[in-house]
Order: sequence, then structure tokens, then C-alpha cells
Amino acid sequence: MDTSINMDPKCREKAPWEDVFHTGPGTTAGRYLRTFWHPVWVASLLKPGRSKPLKIMNEEFTLFRGEGGKAHLLDFRCRHRGTQLSTGWVEGDEIRCFYHGWKYGADGQCTEQPNEPKPFCERIKIRSYPVREYLGLIFAYIGEGEPPEFPLYPDWEKKVQASDYYMRECNYFQHMNNDLAHVPWVHGLRSGETVPLVSMEETEFGCQAVLPNGRVHIALFLMPNMAEITSVNVGRPPYDGRGGALFWRVPIDDASHYNFSVLSYPGSWTADGAAEKANHYVREILAGNLHIEDLRDGDMNILVNVADALAQCGQGAIYEDWDTENLSRHDGQVVMQRAMWFRELRAMLEGKPLKKWVRSKPPEAPPEQAALAVKEVGE
Ligand code: FES
Ligand SMILES: [Fe+2]
Repeated sequence: MDTSINMDPKCREKAPWEDVFHTGPGTTAGRYLRTFWHPVWVASLLKPGRSKPLKIMNEEFTLFRGEGGKAHLLDFRCRHRGTQLSTGWVEGDEIRCFYHGWKYGADGQCTEQPNEPKPFCERIKIRSYPVREYLGLIFAYIGEGEPPEFPLYPDWEKKVQASDYYMRECNYFQHMNNDLAHVPWVHGLRSGETVPLVSMEETEFGCQAVLPNGRVHIALFLMPNMAEITSVNVGRPPYDGRGGALFWRVPIDDASHYNFSVLSYPGSWTADGAAEKANHYVREILAGNLHIEDLRDGDMNILVNVADALAQCGQGAIYEDWDTENLSRHDGQVVMQRAMWFRELRAMLEGKPLKKWVRSKPPEAPPEQAALAVKEVGE
């Protein structure tokens, strides 16, 4: 493979490791992301005996919970004549196809073919994927071979108060590649506050921003697609600085992604359809039919979500033309995240060792959010 980079900005051909946007099977970023466990659904939203179609990184799956309560993930389609398996019936820990009743076990093995005088089940098997429930989320490993060690967050086991998700209609990397300087504008709605210039450091888990007073900023980036916020504050409950959050940005396809969250305060983006309302408002604002100022005094849950989504979706569905950007001194976090991704993708393509990311201890929570010049919420 030719891995040279043409640095002429006018006709620069991107190096293969610069494609962090496309995550379907066989893509560079897709291969990299598939070496990690990812949340794929919220545990409480999948009842025993029910199934659900799922799309993750441009691949479709069948998620179901056996009648005994165990979650399973299988291929999307029945191997007989290809109908969508999630439309069938869960029986015990197996799922029966809606079309002609073939049945599949949790390991993907076909176990029954009702109309066949001589069933040939043993020759039919679909793929099954390792699944694990943790922190109120259903995690899956959809990569090749044996899954890596499952990452644990023991401090979160004690403090989770809500596990949640929402969908955002833009590429996942736009959400991850967020910065600190957006806060007074996006969340302060033109508050007039300025943000201090931070210095970035790479860590064992990803990277963090250090404020001029030497304190680590509350928003941390965890490789490959996570963020942690040690304090969420916009001055209104429940965002009053006491709770934190852990986030995963998981691609659905290249133009949309899920945000899975665990929160250490009671909160929900899915209750009463808040996330759907937020997406509706984002579409309306982008179309010029509304302005975010129209929502200023409304529901805080919705406003927080709309505000971040508006900035990110406003960049376009897949914002990949980084050559036309004009980055400023405050874009250190943006630059560092991209550089870490490029480095890891390049190492993977060249068969070199990859960094093993770990979060061996909880980040220090700031003693008093008010002591920080920057308020943060959402992400
Ligand atoms: S398509 Fe599933 S049993 Fe026929
Ligand atoms: Fe934000």
C-alpha cells in the first residue's frame, strides 16, 4: 500500500489513516473501532422476549432479549430467504423467523426448520456477537476474533443514576471532535464569557486539557470515542455542578450516530421524547424556520441537546474537509484528538503495535465548579 502523503494543500490526497469518518466494514476507521467493545443499546429499553433491529457502523444486527432476561446479538437477516429476523418471535433464548419459522439459537445456529421433511439445520448458522450488560447499557463486540478485555469503570458502578441515549444526525467524529471554546456561545448562548487558553496533554486514556491554574479541565477525551465530564453545570438543577457523565459516540452510519450516556445525576434525554424533539428543533433551525433564541427559556434538557447538535450538524452531515479550516490557538484539543487517531490508524495499517488505552482511576472532580472559569454541559 502506498502510504505517502502529498502535502500540497490545493491537491492534497488524503492519506488512508486520515479517513476517520467512514466506519463501515473494511474501512480503516471501521476496522479500528471494531477492535473495541461499544454500547449498542440501553438495557432498560429492551424487555425480555423482545427483539430490535440495530444499525451500528453501517452494519445491521438483530438484538433480542431472551425470555429469561439475557441479551443476544445476531446477524440481521434469516439465512433462508433473507427476511429481517427482528420481526420474528423470541422463544426462550432463541429467535424464530417471521417468514417461515426457522429458529436460531443465541450462538446463531439454526435449530428448527418447520416445513422441511428433512431439516438441514446443522448446515445453517448466522453470526452471533459477544454481548455484555454494564452500567445500564448493552455492550457488544462486533469485530473479528476474540474480544479484548472488557473495560470496567468501578467508580461508575457506584454512582450511575441514569443510563440513556440519543441519536444525532451527523458523523460521530464531529461530536467527538468538540472543543472547549464552544461553551460560552453554544451553552451560554452568547454569554460573553471568554475561555482560558488550555494546554493539552496525552494521557493513558486519551487526552485532557490543563487550565492556566494547573487544574485539569472537567471534559476529558477517552480514546477511541468516549468523553467524561466530571461536573455538569449551567447553574440550573439538575445541571448544578454536582453530577458527571460518561459518554460513548457510536456511529449508526456515516451521517448519524448514537450518544450513549451514563450519568451520576438523575436525568434523561429519552424521557417524553426529548431527544426526538431536540432533533426536530435542530432540523427546523438549520432550515431557517426557528432560531435557538426561541428555545432559550424552554426545557433545559432539550436546549442542551439542541445547542450542541446545532453546532455539530451545522458543519454538515459528514464534515471531512479539514483542509479548508482555519484553526486557532484554542483548537488544541481538536488537533490533538485528530493526531492521536491518525497515529493509531497509521500504526494499524502498517501492522505496528497500537496503544492500549486504559482509564485506571477516576479523574479528579473539581472541588467547586464555580472556581473554574469555564462552565460546561452536554458535550
Ligand atoms: S426467510 Fe426466514 S424462515 Fe424463511
Ligand atoms: Fe457542549
